[in-house]
Amino acid sequence: MTDFRGRHFLSTLDYTSAELRELVDRTVALKATGGAGKPLDGRVLAMLFFNPSVRTRVSCESGMARLGGHAIAINPGKDTWNFECGEGVVMDGNTQEHVRELGPVLSELCHAVGIRKSELITTGSAQAQPTGSYEELARDEFMHRFAQFSSVPVVNLESNAFHPTQGLADMTTIVERIPEPRGKKYVLTWAWHPKSLPVATPHSQLLSACDLGMDCTVVRPPGYALAPDVMAAARERAEALGGSLVETEDEAEAYEGAHVVCAKAWGSLDYYGRFDQEARDKQALRDWMVTGAKMDRTDDAFFLHCLPVRRNVVVADEVLDSDRSAVIQEAGNRLWTAAAVLAAVMGA
Ligand code: CP
Repeated sequence: MTDFRGRHFLSTLDYTSAELRELVDRTVALKATGGAGKPLDGRVLAMLFFNPSVRTRVSCESGMARLGGHAIAINPGKDTWNFECGEGVVMDGNTQEHVRELGPVLSELCHAVGIRKSELITTGSAQAQPTGSYEELARDEFMHRFAQFSSVPVVNLESNAFHPTQGLADMTTIVERIPEPRGKKYVLTWAWHPKSLPVATPHSQLLSACDLGMDCTVVRPPGYALAPDVMAAARERAEALGGSLVETEDEAEAYEGAHVVCAKAWGSLDYYGRFDQEARDKQALRDWMVTGAKMDRTDDAFFLHCLPVRRNVVVADEVLDSDRSAVIQEAGNRLWTAAAVLAAVMGA
């Protein structure tokens, strides 16, 4: 067994494919026993949720409880001080507490810290506006600066660049349904959405299939490429396990013979910050929705989506309400994935 104690879990790219597969095995084992033995008895997790959440927050709280521990979720800026992470900043504005204190303080008070901080996640219909370019935001400065000053493990609960616990839950769901995923076809399809959503989740979802050595296809319209560094890393990891990664704009070709179809809407990195323009230009792409007819091209593929999902926008009812849908199993695996990662990094 690998000793994961004390390691941050900020991106699955910080872990080898074999380590991730071990975490999947631990997830499956915890799921089978329901967390028996309470390995996190007396341990406390603090979670900073800068954005809304259902699955991530509840899976972490439930995971900690089932393993005998406790979780505290706080909303920075609402029920805490406003936090600062800039180096050498004169804090005479809106921020009251720096990560140089916050990291060590939470390390005194807790055994692990989870952070969700993404610029583009909001509720309602308003489009969030980023405060910088994608390249700037993808550095996830707050999370990495916090981790630098934390002496306890930090878990990424979704940032601008990655959503690793979602990726691991997808990996678990694939393995549960296809115990030998090598040689099987995984398709990540872009979907139309009224808003420009983050690329963090599709990055981590794609990596999950590549870390299983699957033959992966990303199908998306022109202008909707994922980040080049993530694509390069994903391809390298897939090929190292005998798999592959290709991109296409041809939906018919992509769905043909697929064993897994994962849908996700994401905003164009080419348009990043010009979302009104993007919204106008992508009206022509509204038929990029997963339908029963498209799924009929597959080799009896099952359907994944991280949720929440807009029905009959991203995916048709006929798919979501059919036996082809694995989205509830996938969301349920968020619980055991969170439990496995938290137990691993806390050394339980
Ligand atoms: N998939 C996911 O992260 O869901 P929440 O935003 O509800 O946590």
